[in-house]
Amino acid sequence: MSGPFSDLTDTLFADKSVLSESYQPEEILERDEEIEAFSHALQDVLFGREPENIFLYGKAGLGKTAVTKYMMSELQSEVFEREEVDDLHVHEINCNGKTLFMVVRRLVNELLPADASPFPKRGLGTGDAFDELYAQLDRIGGTHLIVFDEIDHLDDVDTLLYELPRARSNGHITESLVGIVGISNNYTFRQSLSAKVKDTLMETEISFSPYDAGELRTILHDRADRAFVDGACDESAIAKAAALSAQDMGNARQAIDLLRVGAEVAERDGDETVTDDHIEDARTLVQRGRLRNKIRDQTEHAQYILETIAKLEERNEVPARSKEIQEGYERVAEAYGATPLTTLKSIQDHLSDLHMLGFLVRHERNKGLSGGQYYEYELDLDPMIVLETREEIVQAAD
Ligand SMILES: Nc1ncnc2c1ncn2[C@@H]1O[C@H](COP(=O)(O)OP(=O)(O)O)[C@@H](O)[C@H]1O
Ligand SMILES: [Mg+2]
Repeated sequence: MSGPFSDLTDTLFADKSVLSESYQPEEILERDEEIEAFSHALQDVLFGREPENIFLYGKAGLGKTAVTKYMMSELQSEVFEREEVDDLHVHEINCNGKTLFMVVRRLVNELLPADASPFPKRGLGTGDAFDELYAQLDRIGGTHLIVFDEIDHLDDVDTLLYELPRARSNGHITESLVGIVGISNNYTFRQSLSAKVKDTLMETEISFSPYDAGELRTILHDRADRAFVDGACDESAIAKAAALSAQDMGNARQAIDLLRVGAEVAERDGDETVTDDHIEDARTLVQRGRLRNKIRDQTEHAQYILETIAKLEERNEVPARSKEIQEGYERVAEAYGATPLTTLKSIQDHLSDLHMLGFLVRHERNKGLSGGQYYEYELDLDPMIVLETREEIVQAAD
């Protein structure tokens, strides 16, 4: 019998999960200095002292999350080995898309005994959540390391970073020790903090620099060995994926994505090895995927504006002025049952943000001697990507 699956007998992958986003490598390569600085900063935990607060900086895909998970698990094992050391509790929270209240509430719920009812979503405030957090920390005792990943996304970082590191000196906790590990993709994060937080908080800062092509090759080699069956991946494919990613921010996530997608292309074409041509094809696909994610990250109204401009492009009505975009935007927003933003200024602000984020090209125009200056906009990406992504989002929401 032959069916749609009967031809699918061979695969290039020995373990494809090794190339997935959620895979945590057992070994961290090419980050010896960062690991050294990190372990130095964490050593207080082994001696029953209050932990230092640690901040990690660096662009996306440079190993900040992976290194932190590795360090936490190594420290846990070390604490476990040493009988005299107090218990260590590690809590990891990603702050992207969360408010301070949501983050503290999440922590509280993680710490509450299994049979306790969760901290209420409504009715109580952030101050109440902090009080409950302190009560739970002391109930459990020992040392708590709290990892705030993508902390630059949090609305009220100042309060968090003012409160938590002082919990002990302010007498909110007496039976436990707390340390913070903050991770930020954004180098300007530090400048955005208030002076009183900046001065006392950032005890150790570790900055992650982009990987060069050689370092990326080492990382990819290690993954490829685990991910592919023998001989299924050309040396030159690895070199190509490393070189492309090194040129573009030195991002290890991107390099791994290129390898995975390149292998998917090779399988689809029925080829027995992944070659540099497959990586070249993967490049376009990976870029599209990244753009889609970037569009998804925009607010609802920013997405309506992008959709409006994509539609104008399809009708060859670009570049367009903000007034024209506003008219189209109102129709788009209403079609989705949303109330459009009313002022031209708010549309212009969105346009200027979208330009800064690289979605739009902006042309400056002058209206001769009499008139002032104005801008016209068009997309800096294929309008089909915008329209398809919007379609997906709308369908998923139904
Ligand atoms: N030094 C490294 N050794 C092994 N894998 C790494 C290394 N750096 C990054 N990776 C892998 O690259 C991807 C992105 O790393 P991640 O830690 O998520 O980056 P960041 O948190 O800085 O955005 C993950 O799959 C991670 O496992
Ligand atoms: Mg990360």
